[in-house]
Amino acid sequence: MAGSSFGKNITVTTWGESHGPALGAVLDGCPAGISLDASDIQKFLDRRKPGTSAVTTARKEDDSVELLSGIFEGKTTGTPISMMIRNTSQHSGDYGNLVNTFRPGHADYCFDTKFGIRDYRGGGRSSGRETAARVAAGAVAMKILNELGITIHAVTASIGDIAVPTPILDALSENEEGINISLSNSVVMPDSNIASVAEALIKKCREEKDSIGGSVYCFVKGMPAGIGDPVFDKLDAKLSQALFSIGAVKAVEIGNGIEASKKRGSKNNDPIRCDSTGKVSFSTNNSGGILGGISNGDLIKIHAYFKPTPSVYRPQDTIKKNPDGSYENTELEIEGRHDPVIVPRAVVVVECMTALTVLDALLDNIGSRMEHLKKIYG
Ligand SMILES: Cc1cc2nc3c(=O)[nH]c(=O)nc-3n(C[C@H](O)[C@H](O)[C@H](O)COP(=O)(O)O)c2cc1C
Repeated sequence: MAGSSFGKNITVTTWGESHGPALGAVLDGCPAGISLDASDIQKFLDRRKPGTSAVTTARKEDDSVELLSGIFEGKTTGTPISMMIRNTSQHSGDYGNLVNTFRPGHADYCFDTKFGIRDYRGGGRSSGRETAARVAAGAVAMKILNELGITIHAVTASIGDIAVPTPILDALSENEEGINISLSNSVVMPDSNIASVAEALIKKCREEKDSIGGSVYCFVKGMPAGIGDPVFDKLDAKLSQALFSIGAVKAVEIGNGIEASKKRGSKNNDPIRCDSTGKVSFSTNNSGGILGGISNGDLIKIHAYFKPTPSVYRPQDTIKKNPDGSYENTELEIEGRHDPVIVPRAVVVVECMTALTVLDALLDNIGSRMEHLKKIYG
């Protein structure tokens, strides 16, 4: 199965299933000489870890990362960095009723039609657990970006119809406190009062054996202007691919994308100004920091929208496959341990996929001008 790798200059390949012995990532193309140890990666994995609050699955995983290659005496060597996370809390018996029956909202039927064989224990490669490997790789990208003065943060912007108002989200790029608040509550929202309302909604959904969706807001600060490409490798196209590749993401918005479709051009264009020193700025940021697929130096603003967790503990209509290949209608009640909402655990996944994409685009840009090449080789 091709398609487990992402990136051009720095490439991440993830491997493993949620109910196999382990899963992991190989990050290739990472520059040599970066100080890196497991704790740099672990702090990101801990933010995605299941079983840490009432709004996540009861599956308890250590999610401890083991670094197998690419590091010598605490520094990256420029060779592939292989990272492994062992699965320690599989309850594969919970999935016994799924051998021939397809879960609604999951990829089971599609896997069966494509491959004719599937790991029915917990979704295999489509499991949310696969994203642990992306987070491990993204943490390395984040470390590199931070050394370049680029920071990336994401928070929960909405759970169901409980939304953090746009001014609060907009203030985050200048407001460390808002980021800290989001890290301190179980729904990862930058406002404690709104977080409490969202937590109550998730609790209600759980009691009603249901789930709920929501959205993540992510911003990139310190991105220089001129990064990205104008056609197939547009920066917004690359970011969209990165975010759509996360399980349960059903929409991605750059800047004020959806609102822009309802506006007039005169109101949507971001006026350009320069000061006496020649510094360029934009009076508004409807574009989300990207024009023509290339960064304009302003804050990059992204929203990723997640559907409700597909596994709900209610009887659902579905089909089962008979040994002769025919289908019949049936009813399924899902067992196992599931997140009543995906968003809070996916916040760090969005951050890490954004980091991998931005770093790849920066590396791509090195060859965009002769003067860049002369600086390195001339
Ligand atoms: C961090 C994360 C955790 C997830 N946890 C669950 C879960 O506990 N139960 C579940 O049914 N789906 C979960 N999912 C969603 C499934 O992976 C995904 O919805 C499913 O494979 C179908 O793919 P699609 O929604 O992208 O079409 C999770 C996704 C992510 C990103």
